[in-house]
Amino acid sequence: MSQTRKRILTGIRPSAALHLGHYAGALETWVRLQDDYECFFLIADYQVSDYADQMDVVREAVFEVALDWLAVGLDPERSHFVIESLVPEHAELTVWLSWFVGLGRLQRNPTLKAEMAELEARAKESVPVAFFTYPIMQVANILMPKAHLVPTGEDQSPHVEMTREVARRFNRMFGEVFVEPEGLIGRVPRLVGLDGKAKMGKSLNNAIFLKEDAETVTQKVMSMFTDPTRIRATDPGHVEGNPVFMYHDAFNPDTAEVQDLKDRYRAGKVGDVEVKQRLVRALNELLEPIRERRAYYQAHPALVREALAAGTGYAKKVAEQTMAEVRAALKLNYLE
Ligand code: TRP
Repeated sequence: MSQTRKRILTGIRPSAALHLGHYAGALETWVRLQDDYECFFLIADYQVSDYADQMDVVREAVFEVALDWLAVGLDPERSHFVIESLVPEHAELTVWLSWFVGLGRLQRNPTLKAEMAELEARAKESVPVAFFTYPIMQVANILMPKAHLVPTGEDQSPHVEMTREVARRFNRMFGEVFVEPEGLIGRVPRLVGLDGKAKMGKSLNNAIFLKEDAETVTQKVMSMFTDPTRIRATDPGHVEGNPVFMYHDAFNPDTAEVQDLKDRYRAGKVGDVEVKQRLVRALNELLEPIRERRAYYQAHPALVREALAAGTGYAKKVAEQTMAEVRAALKLNYLE
């Protein structure tokens, strides 16, 4: 447990397999940062209170997420894959830290506010208290291994900011226990959906999943939303705000090809079909090695379980150590 490298903690809710938005906004950065940081990748199953009546989905998603992680190149030899609820210290720390988050402060968290409104509209009933308090649990997740860096999509930034505030407040009151972490937003902070809507998401039905085969990817791209003002391929087209070009910018490494397509599109000299076909090729080149690694691990499920068991076991030791410091700082040793 001797700590030589700085630490990362980041995580994902186990509700479904991961898509291109996760990749460009987060996973790609995580893969790269494994060289420089000791990484804790958390499967946050305490955070899916909106799936209480679908625990079978959660159970499956824990493995789907782990498979996607292995598939993109997160490496359990170097990094720790952690199942949150198997380290119940997370729950204990959440209780203590909730002492230091004001009710009004939580109510003003913009990400939480938007998610609660969406959940209420979808479920047509009131949001579980556990959903309202999940950002505090996320603070506990981050502070537990004393992470220095928290790489996420941009929607998670308010939670990182809250983490910084809680760490400062606790340290000021009880002595230096926690590290105040920095956030880091991925290369593509928010990927638009296939339908051109603001965000790619499973529940929005506008996502390309990392595990999807070449044929499905082709189909999805060919029916993508493009420039609605363009009737014929000879009409000058709009590149800005056009999701097909946003995906080219995000995923096509051949920048000369992308520039050429943009020039010809603006001039009415290329059809949507060709632009999309080239995107299909770029995406399938990106996804093919990911699919291959995923298939390998899917055929060797024991390796997936071992990765989760080893990472979770390590995180539990780290958590026990931090909790000992927290209890000492709060002087909870009443009976000694
Ligand atoms: N809330 C994050 C999401 O919805 C998942 C998450 C849980 C997380 N704990 C975290 C992210 C800690 C960063 C750090 O994807």
